[in-house]
This record gives sequence, structure tokens and C-alpha cells, in this order.
Amino acid sequence: MSTRTATEPIAQEPHVDLDTVVVLDYGSQYTPLIARRVRESEVYSEILPFDAPEERVRSLHPKGIILSGSDSSVYEAGSPDLRDYIVELGIPILGICYGMQVVSQKFGGSVQPGKTREYGPATLEIVDRRHPLFKDFPEESRVWMSHGDQVSVPPFGFEQIARTDNSEWAAIGNADDDILLLQFHPEVKHTQLGHALIRNFALEVCGSRPTWTPASFVDSSVASLRDAIGDGQVILALSGGVDSTVAAALLHKAVGQQLTCIFVDTGLLRDGEVEAVEKAMADHLDLNVITVDARSRFVNRLARVTDPERKREIIGDEFFDVFIEEAEKLEAVEFFVQGTLYPDVIESGTAGLRSARIKTHHNTRIPDELSLQVIEPLKHLFKDEVRQVGIELGLPESIVWRQPFPGPGLGVRIMGEITPDRLHALRRADRVFREEVAREGLDRVMGQYFAVLTGVRTVGVMGDGRTYGEMVALRAVATDDFMTADWYRLPNEVLEKTSARIVNEIPAITRVVYDITSKPPGTIEWE
Ligand code: XMP
Repeated sequence: MSTRTATEPIAQEPHVDLDTVVVLDYGSQYTPLIARRVRESEVYSEILPFDAPEERVRSLHPKGIILSGSDSSVYEAGSPDLRDYIVELGIPILGICYGMQVVSQKFGGSVQPGKTREYGPATLEIVDRRHPLFKDFPEESRVWMSHGDQVSVPPFGFEQIARTDNSEWAAIGNADDDILLLQFHPEVKHTQLGHALIRNFALEVCGSRPTWTPASFVDSSVASLRDAIGDGQVILALSGGVDSTVAAALLHKAVGQQLTCIFVDTGLLRDGEVEAVEKAMADHLDLNVITVDARSRFVNRLARVTDPERKREIIGDEFFDVFIEEAEKLEAVEFFVQGTLYPDVIESGTAGLRSARIKTHHNTRIPDELSLQVIEPLKHLFKDEVRQVGIELGLPESIVWRQPFPGPGLGVRIMGEITPDRLHALRRADRVFREEVAREGLDRVMGQYFAVLTGVRTVGVMGDGRTYGEMVALRAVATDDFMTADWYRLPNEVLEKTSARIVNEIPAITRVVYDITSKPPGTIEWE
């Protein structure tokens, strides 16, 4: 084992050769969507807090700045402000909702406190049809409003670009056409041509080059990973999920046989998962994989534990114990790969964003015991970008498009005590559900779908006798970002077939129910 001390994680800095649009976060829940829309235009985008230090913003050499919405009002004391240096950068600025109001106030316009909130669709009528922001737009299109306050008098020199029935100043711009302000939210799906508007801002107004692609990401990552790693040895914990698999493929491309993957079979994976991962690894990547059968260790440590947080802790601890034992058997390892994604960075609060929602239950952590340098090769990517990179690296669709699976696995889908028998029953029920969903071709339509052992015991009849067994709940959601989710309206036939098969094929289960709770107020997982 190396004695090298852990320092700042290594994450390739994509902005080095890329045109970048910086999103300044004023606290809106939609902030991450703005960055996603910019990136969908093949322009790199990063989110920084509205009060980010000037050097941090300048170090990205941005071609443009977008100011997000906010849950604050410009009238509140201590509400987030617009820093002078942002205007002094002399690059195009797009202000969205609160971003519009904060700029208007700074330049002497008036913002009217909203008596009621305008929330919902509006028809946008473009007045300045030659404006680059609205290039290739029809005269009218649908936009999404969500605001309380509103600009009543634009700052001096600002002109109308577009209007709605409720708002003369739905889109305005200054004389130089480099400060553009919107009352509506182009980043949300309900704005019909929002994506085109953000693309027009990034490409036409800022003049960015569309060079943020999976291929360019792979090329520059491979180069910088080789640079950072040299001839060092690297280890990676493979979970079978999309992120660790794509990270493994990327590292493999960069440093080949210097990478060793450790795949811990916790016994909490879905039916067939261990075999599927091993097969995919063998068929598609010539990876060094050490599979550790730790099933009995996990079940023993989890015996009689019913508290969900305690389960998560034990599973996390045990995972790292197994991982460390294996890692210590290897010679001269210097680097440890972690599959952190951009949403983890945004939500963890470490980036200092107002829109952060601190999560406690997501289990990324660095094994300090190892004194390894941490590499986070996917730290700048959204989930859909990770999948595209996976495809670019030649991974099969069956791996790249698999649904997310929580780190603690089936451990948090069994309410109450985890026993080998209950695990066996849940694994079978989950497999039946997945088979029936796939039969209807719905497996790529839903964000997540799975079975839960609810811990409720109920009575049933089978043939002439009464039975007494467990109740399974089926959960299926449609979601873009896993932060919100809608319960999925599965066809009755799929539910019927799944329910009949589960009760017939799995003696321990006597009843099946379907979960019709959206998120919020429910979460996706049951515990
Ligand atoms: P919730 O249940 O919070 O889930 O709506 C949102 C997403 O996170 C996954 N999830 C977890 N992932 N460790 C993980 O790695 C966990 O403890 C955990 N709990 C929930 C969940 O599957 C969904 O994709």
C-alpha cells in the first residue's frame, strides 16, 4: 500500500479547451436544468453560487453568464445581489425571472412586488423578430411563468423583445444586445422552445462553439487521466450500476491494465445482477475484476436490524471493510476511483449553492484508511451525459440504460428484518415485475420500477386452504431527475399479470399492491 496522503480529488477540468457558459445560482430549484439545457446545446456549463469569488468565475473564461431564478424577492433584506464584476466581465448576460429582476433593479428599473403569483402557461409573442435569441422562432409560442414580483419599468435603454398578455416586458434587452432578461423560465420543459432559446443564447449571442460532446469528453478525460495517473495502480469499487461501470470503462481506456475493479457481491443485488455484470465486463471490457462473495457477511451483520438508517450504515461500513481487505492485498495502489456525479456535487452542499438540498442518505465516501488519491472522473457530468459517455465507450445499451439502484440495494426495499428467506422472496418478486415490464417494452420509459417487501403480513386463500404471508408493493415512477417523480400509470394488464405471477410463483407472498404516491410528497424508495 502506498503511504501517499489523500489530497483534493482529481477531476478533469473540462473547461480548459471548451467554451463555457456559467450559470449563477440564486436559489431556484430549476438551476440545474439551466446548465443541462446549455450542455444539450453542446456547450459546457457549470453552476456557481451568485456570490462566487471573481477569480473563480474568471478562471472558467466564460463566454456568457446566465442568472437563475430564486425563491427570494429583490425586496427582502439580504436577498442575493448581482456582483459588480459580473457586469464588468463584458460578456453576454441572460437573466431569468429573479435574474431579470436583480439586473433591472441594479440598472435603475422598477420591480413591482407581486400581489399574487403568476404560475402556469402564457403565450409569448415575439416583437423583435430579428433578435438572435429568438432565431427560427415562430411569432407565437408557449412559455412557462412562475413568479411573484415582476419588472414594471425596464431600466433606461432596455427595449422590448417579446411580450405576453400579462407582461409587456416578457423579454427585454439593452442597446448593445448583450444583457437579455426574461420573465419566463426557458429551462423547464413546459416552455415549448425553451431549449432552442438557451441554445440561441449560448451559440448565437455568446458565440460559443458547440464542442461539448461525449467524444470530446472521452478524449480530454483520457488525456488528463493518463497525465495524473502516470504508471500508478488504480482501484475501483464496481457496484454493477451505470456510474461505476462507465467510470471503469473510462479508466480502462486511459490506463488499461493499471486498473483493478473490486466487485462486492453483498447478496443485496437484484436477481441475476452479479452474473449480468460479470458477463458484460468479460464480453465488452477486458477488465481486471475481483469478485468477492460477501453474502453471508452482510446477512450476518444485518441480522435483527430494522432501522433503515442503521441498515444503510451497516451496509456502507461492511462494503468498505470488504473493499479495504481486498485492496490491501494489492501491491502499490495509489489511486481510488469514485463515481461522483455533478448532481451529487450540487446537492451535497459542498459547492455552496443556495439550491442545494442536503442529502444524508447517499453513500459516497472516501476510505481514509487507504491514504489513496481519489479520482472522480464523472464529477462534471449529469446522469444522461454519463449514459452517453458509456455508449461512446462501447458499453452495451443493456448496461448503460439500466435503472438506478440504491447503494444499499434490496436492504432498503425490505421493511423490517433482512433474512435470507425474505431476500429470496423479494428477489423473485422483483424479477417477475421486471420481466412483465420488459415484455410490454416499458423498461426504458420509466425512471425506476421495483418491488418492495412491505413487512405487512396478510391472509389469503389458495385452493381450499387459507394462507398467511407477506404483502409486496410494486413501485414504478416516471422521472427526469429523481428529485421529483410521478407514479407511473402502468397498463392494468401488466399489473394483473405481475400480481398473478407473484402470488402463484412465490409461496411466501400472498398479496400485491400498487403504490400511487408521487414525489413529493412520497420518496421513490420506501425507506
Ligand atoms: P428517494 O427515495 O430519495 O430516491 O426519492 C431518489 C433516488 O436515490 C436513490 N436512493 C439511494 N441511492 N443510496 C443510494 O445510492 C441510498 O441510500 C439511496 N436511497 C435512495 C433512489 O433509488 C432514487 O434513484
